[in-house]
Amino acid sequence: MNLVVVKDYNEMSNVSANIFKNTINQKSNSVLGLATGSTPIGLYKRLIEMNNNKEIDFKNVTTINLDEYIGLDEKNPQSYRYFMDNNLFNYINIKKENTFVPNGRAKNFDLECKNYDKRIQELGGIDLQVLGIGANGHIAFNEPSEYLISQTHITNLTKSTIEANSRFFNSINDVPKQAITMGIGQIMNTKKIILMATGKDKVKAIRELLEGNITTKNPATILNLHKNVTVIIDELIAREINR
Ligand code: PGA
Repeated sequence: MNLVVVKDYNEMSNVSANIFKNTINQKSNSVLGLATGSTPIGLYKRLIEMNNNKEIDFKNVTTINLDEYIGLDEKNPQSYRYFMDNNLFNYINIKKENTFVPNGRAKNFDLECKNYDKRIQELGGIDLQVLGIGANGHIAFNEPSEYLISQTHITNLTKSTIEANSRFFNSINDVPKQAITMGIGQIMNTKKIILMATGKDKVKAIRELLEGNITTKNPATILNLHKNVTVIIDELIAREINR
């Protein structure tokens, strides 16, 4: 696992955007695995700038998102489809039909999950995946549990995730209790991963990740078995974990 310590959020966004740029410039039809949440917003801003400056071209790129809340449709500002459209896709030259987010309002979720996995396979896998990390160590919505699920599936959100994500909703009661998420197997099959974390809330999860022991109580620790992971953390976290 490569560890990169950056000064702050801004530098983290620049470093990760450069990795994206290199990937796209090496393979114009890259398949990018994208994430939502506060962490990647700065990265997406940089990608928009780079696209405007003609440093990168999304014409042939495909994107696959990690997860979506159950029950929210694309018009709901808290849905991850809405987030992606409004933080990235509407501002770059990507073809909308080449952007995939799981459907949180699917009629048949078993089928939606199976088709999502099939799509990833048909695309030839994900070239570069960006991940945030939950304070509880979740990646995508693979929550701490007795066991981890390999394929795309429906999951119950933990109390800590519902509390953390309630900042985006009017009330904690409005936060969906379930999500559809890529599984651990899908994430482990990606060719290259960038995991980004800033701020004191993430110290414990990152400490456990970098200690190298693997536990389902912190799903991110499974990444210790992946061959190409870059973890980008800010100085605050680095100081707390003596790195
Ligand atoms: P955040 O969420 O980027 O909003 O901190 C990360 C996550 O929960 O995976």
